[in-house]
Amino acid sequence: MQFPQDFINRNLCGDAIEIMKQIPDGSVDLAVTSPPYNLKNSSGNGMKDGRGGKWASAALQNGYSHHDDNMPHDEYVKWQRQCLKHMLRIVRDDGAVFYNHKWRVQNGLLQDRQDILKGFPVRQIIIWRRSGGINFNRGYFLPTYEVIYLIANPKFKLAPKANAYGDVWEFPQEMNNPHPAPFPIALINRIISSTSAQLVLDPFMGSGTTAIAAKALGRDFIGIDISPEYCNMADDRLARAFPTTEIQPKLTEAKTQPALL
Ligand SMILES: C[S@@+](CC[C@H](N)C(=O)[O-])C[C@H]1O[C@@H](n2cnc3c(N)ncnc32)[C@H](O)[C@@H]1O
Repeated sequence: MQFPQDFINRNLCGDAIEIMKQIPDGSVDLAVTSPPYNLKNSSGNGMKDGRGGKWASAALQNGYSHHDDNMPHDEYVKWQRQCLKHMLRIVRDDGAVFYNHKWRVQNGLLQDRQDILKGFPVRQIIIWRRSGGINFNRGYFLPTYEVIYLIANPKFKLAPKANAYGDVWEFPQEMNNPHPAPFPIALINRIISSTSAQLVLDPFMGSGTTAIAAKALGRDFIGIDISPEYCNMADDRLARAFPTTEIQPKLTEAKTQPALL
């Protein structure tokens, strides 16, 4: 495969690290991603016995089609740190990585994912407040947010006026998507439109949400996912959203905020 022609505006089916290794340094403007959270490796909660979790149907009880979301914790941390190293290598020196993750309680203590993020240039933590969730544990309050780490290379700047969004964003979870853990499209639309990035990488593309948001905003994308099923899902979604080669700004938030397009 040759960069860029075989990568841009494609959902590439394969391992995130193996494919990222083929992308040259400083060749992408922005990375936006939500990795597997390793939720099945847990000290015990609804994700294990199916009582609830991030998504209403707790669809992740079965893991992903080609990843069981149950790695030994140390191995998972090492893997995610390697993924972040590649993302930061690939984005330009005025680029950034928006890395979505979830904090949780393990054995009665907060697991805030600092072990993954330690040493990376985290500039800000954005709170994504989302509705729903179920918690039967009387030891702590019902969790209602996830985090998005803005990990920025030194020269990164937001698009003009985007800083007015603040650092607490409220978007409902995506419910009408067969993928077990999709981003809400409005969330990714907010991230991409807050930057001037032309080329956006998502190494855990899943159902193609980052691709759809990028194209709707007139940007380009590189998508990677290990699951052929999800790669097909992403391609089908793109084909439905953009039946011609012209960009069709159909997204909900894009419609309500035409100034950002
Ligand atoms: C949280 S989901 C991403 C969902 C996506 N944001 C969306 O809107 O549909 C994580 C994805 O990582 C993929 N994945 C797991 N292991 C992977 C690997 N080694 N390389 C690439 N993708 C992987 C899974 O198949 C899953 O689709």
